[in-house]
Amino acid sequence: MKVAIDGPAGSGKSTVAKAIAKKCGFTLLDTGAMYRSVALACVQRGVDLNDTDAVAQVAREVKISFVPGEKVQRVLLDGEDVTSDIRTPLIDKAVTPVSANPGVREAMVAQQRAIGEQGDVVAEGRDIGTVVFPDAEVKVFLTADPAARALRRAVQRDGGDAATDAHATADQSAVEEIMADLIRRDKADSTREASPLRPAEDAVHIDSSNKTVDMVVSMIIQMMEGAR
Ligand code: DC
Repeated sequence: MKVAIDGPAGSGKSTVAKAIAKKCGFTLLDTGAMYRSVALACVQRGVDLNDTDAVAQVAREVKISFVPGEKVQRVLLDGEDVTSDIRTPLIDKAVTPVSANPGVREAMVAQQRAIGEQGDVVAEGRDIGTVVFPDAEVKVFLTADPAARALRRAVQRDGGDAATDAHATADQSAVEEIMADLIRRDKADSTREASPLRPAEDAVHIDSSNKTVDMVVSMIIQMMEGAR
């Protein structure tokens, strides 16, 4: 079975997808981590992010893989652990032109489909239900208001988890800075030409602003049971 979870940054996709993968024994496919890894590889190699051919070439060359970790799944870029290096403000910015590059998307989608062919998968991203797995049995479009999304990201950056700690707080100026960046990325992701962020016609919309992770996970597991 394929479960597709799409939505904007900070909507809770990663936490929810991770919980479903663990509960159901599915492979977790974090496609954002793949675009981030290509962006990191370009930065490391000094490739101009606006040179579309050179960036696409990097995407075709690199090997991105996921291995189980103690707390989180580890992301390997050419065998090297880049799990935390891909989550910096520098990569938050660099990933925008990289993920808008059609050649990069073509290379990543091919890798994502190959992973999907290996068995049950829960994939999260922006174009899973529309492009990567249009035949997914379960499609969710997860949203949350920008303030809730910014707080989650700020807490996450401090090593906490707002999804499991209802009283989590973060520095207000950090929240505001993250919110401005999220809004910038939402706009770039939704208005780009190549596979823009948009819900699949048959996706179920869930607003997670006032829902716990458990509530969202239960809703999706019910959908999975209905699709079997
Ligand atoms: O989910 P994330 O924040 O880690 O994603 C990083 C960036 O990659 C985000 O700005 C949008 C892009 N992305 C994409 O274009 N398509 C995907 N399937 C996943 C992520």
